[in-house]
Amino acid sequence: MSDRKRVAILISGGGSNMLALVRDMSGDHPCRPVLVASNDPGAGGLGRAAELGILTAAVDHKPFGRDREAFEAALSERLEAAAPDIICLAGFMRILTPGFIARWQGRMLNIHPSLLPKYRGLNTHARAIEAGDAEHGVSVHEVTAELDGGPVLGQARVPVRPGDTPDDLAARVLEQEHRLYPLVLRRFASGDRTPILL
Ligand code: GRF
Repeated sequence: MSDRKRVAILISGGGSNMLALVRDMSGDHPCRPVLVASNDPGAGGLGRAAELGILTAAVDHKPFGRDREAFEAALSERLEAAAPDIICLAGFMRILTPGFIARWQGRMLNIHPSLLPKYRGLNTHARAIEAGDAEHGVSVHEVTAELDGGPVLGQARVPVRPGDTPDDLAARVLEQEHRLYPLVLRRFASGDRTPILL
């Protein structure tokens, strides 16, 4: 286990992407999960990770109000203790400061439910439907100070069907998220940044 890359996963919600990553990190995988942390103590994914025997941490952002640096300092304490080589943001809904990002630059990935650079930010499924797009999808990218703007390491495409609601599209995209993120992590952990296109 010692030569494997240590992976911390940050979540804010149910953690289905976290589970897809954790389940894939077995056997000859170059990585092992060492921490699942959340800014929401009520995040369903924390319990799911604990059931799999993974160390978890809840650092509630609310008591810090607008003081992002103070929240990140508390989060960084838990991260530094776990000493990850790679951080995967998986449905982590806090915007990180440039200072935090600089600390982990080149070692932090994020999954975003759109075909970047289209639809950075929120409500990506509704925006794709409103725009009349025929295709939509998901991207995994390196995290930089530009929100959803870092180098893309993988994308998966899905059709937008007539009559689709944002929920229909979100469900179709989520299936691809669970395929794409583990593939990108495996490749990224081996030092290869060639994008994976599904
Ligand atoms: C996913 O759609 C992800 O792309 C987005 O937030 C959602 C999180 O889902 N950033 P889960 O918590 O991984 O189930």
